[in-house]
Amino acid sequence: MRVLGIESSCDETAVAVLDEERGLLAHCLHSQSEMHNLYGGVVPELASRDHVRRILPLTRAALAKAGCAPADIHAVAYTVGPGLIGALLVGSAFGRSLAYAWRCPGIGVHHLEGHLMAPMLESDPPGFPFLALLVSGGHTLLIDVAAFADYRLLGRSVDDAAGEAFDKTAKLLGLPYPGGAHLARLAERGTPGRYSLPRPMLDRAGFDFSFSGLKTAAAQIIRGRKLRESERADLALAFQTAIVETLVAKTRRALEASGRATLVVAGGVGANQMLRERLAAMTPELGVTVRYPRVEFCTDNAAMIAMAGLWRLRAGARDSLAIRALARWPLTETSLAAVA
Ligand code: KG4
Ligand code: ZN
Repeated sequence: MRVLGIESSCDETAVAVLDEERGLLAHCLHSQSEMHNLYGGVVPELASRDHVRRILPLTRAALAKAGCAPADIHAVAYTVGPGLIGALLVGSAFGRSLAYAWRCPGIGVHHLEGHLMAPMLESDPPGFPFLALLVSGGHTLLIDVAAFADYRLLGRSVDDAAGEAFDKTAKLLGLPYPGGAHLARLAERGTPGRYSLPRPMLDRAGFDFSFSGLKTAAAQIIRGRKLRESERADLALAFQTAIVETLVAKTRRALEASGRATLVVAGGVGANQMLRERLAAMTPELGVTVRYPRVEFCTDNAAMIAMAGLWRLRAGARDSLAIRALARWPLTETSLAAVA
């Protein structure tokens, strides 16, 4: 079984070819971040137009790299949602049409299911069940994953996603978009102790997060002042530490409550080194193993969409000929029964 995966939900156009036996044969990606950086964030219309320009050349490149002709592809998996509606429509219409033209199944994939399946691309993939901490630019979720497509939402951010908070604070610090990795690099030069920022919702029961207050607290420190370089680094470190400690504390609670022995961390913020170190320090005493996708598959890519598509295909999922694009789509509404 060989699946072509397509991702276009936000500002990355990506195409990948995944073989059930031989693994990932090709993955091609174009990031639009330089284009959006001019505006300090993603401009949806520009994103859609760029997806239109890139998607066909990227598909040709992925097929060539994989050494595949269309006849060698057994299914096309494409992101249906959630994301920017125009951007999603490009990949979804293109993917569905390819499947029609190639007379093979078309499989609509939930973007977050893609993130959850990204560790399955590694040679030693985690098994089910597991607890997932999904931390991206659009989502911060704690999900109990009993089996493939069997999701129970334990906690989520009630306002900004962790990545969004990283990006907004990075912007205040004058860093390029998307700012998460830039802020993390600045924080490496910081010294703790100068600034103290809140750890929102830690004192409250449950597994929900809130990050908008943290960003406001950082904004109040920055506003109207020109920070020295060492102050910028110290603030970046204080901010990163507050986010990471909050994520780690709530994840610990969810691990204790669910009793799961595996933690999967997925999404762009999963690339954060401090988060990885703190989770590595917290989990051994709970007897929990932490699993990550490789760093390039933490952020948006098509390999993870192909992997989720392959699992859906094996489970018998097939999409109708309708072209679906859903800006909002709860992960818990993606059960296989709902798709079939
Ligand atoms: O999963 P992703 O590529 O896109 C979404 O589906 O949202 O995640 C992108 C997010 C951005 O907010 C970016 O700033 C953040 O992941 N990010 C990081 C790091 N690398 C990427 N945040 C903190 N530390 C990093 N090293
Ligand atoms: Zn994503």
